[in-house]
Amino acid sequence: MRLLLDTRARHLPTEPVTDDDLARLYAWPEGGGVRANFVSTLDGSGVGADGRSGSINTEPDGRIFHLQRQLSHCVLVGAGTARAEGYRRGPTPIVVVSRSGRIPESLATGTGDVVLATCASSGRRDGDHVWVEGDETVDLPAVVARLRDAGMPGVLTEGGPRLFHDLLEAGVVDELALTLAPRIVGGDHTRVVAGNPLGGPSGLDAEVVHLLEEDGSIMGLWRVKP
Ligand SMILES: NC(=O)c1ccc[n+]([C@@H]2O[C@H](COP(=O)([O-])OP(=O)(O)OC[C@H]3O[C@@H](n4cnc5c(N)ncnc54)[C@H](OP(=O)(O)O)[C@@H]3O)[C@@H](O)[C@H]2O)c1
Repeated sequence: MRLLLDTRARHLPTEPVTDDDLARLYAWPEGGGVRANFVSTLDGSGVGADGRSGSINTEPDGRIFHLQRQLSHCVLVGAGTARAEGYRRGPTPIVVVSRSGRIPESLATGTGDVVLATCASSGRRDGDHVWVEGDETVDLPAVVARLRDAGMPGVLTEGGPRLFHDLLEAGVVDELALTLAPRIVGGDHTRVVAGNPLGGPSGLDAEVVHLLEEDGSIMGLWRVKP
């Protein structure tokens, strides 16, 4: 994997990047934040023909995906993605956002922490593993604040597209780690953000932090401008 651009460094390494370089590139800023991680095809699809992102990701993307999980305090994920991708418990705590208050079956067993973040209309009661924030909709800034208070300031959200939209709309996303996979799938598939237009006519602005490349996959990190 090679580094194509690093806006925080004066000189680019000429050698392939090491694990230490990657850990530095994806280290959380002081105080943490909310970082989204997605993969997209060249034609903007967030899924392959089977409706899952697992069919469009690539080996180098997978490496960055797992590294970011290791570096993060928790994974924040929509119930739709956890269901579609068969999320399982693991070393990084998983916080599942669900308006209806249903934990995906694949997360029901195994080891590792899972928290359900839901709203009062789900009928669920607040407790250690169920966080009720908001009445009819989940109050996402309140969930992020609660994660910080619980000692989990580095929040990695893996979407999906509807949750990412709502987090962007709520103004709580700091960074986007996006892989451009060298594939073109066509079809009428979801992009990595679903829902109403965001920001003004030209959307929200972001600035590039770094770009990596391996086997035609581009792994980038962008800072979302407030
Ligand atoms: N390309 C990528 O990197 C990538 C990443 C992730 C997912 N995906 C793909 O995206 C597809 C899933 O898309 P999606 O948009 O349905 O995913 P999603 O946002 O994970 O799921 C939507 C569901 O999550 C819950 N949810 C999301 N936002 C919420 C909010 N603000 N408040 C309360 N609940 C919220 C709701 O669950 P309840 O119905 O339980 O209330 C909602 O029905 C899958 O095909 C997956 O493979 C692609």
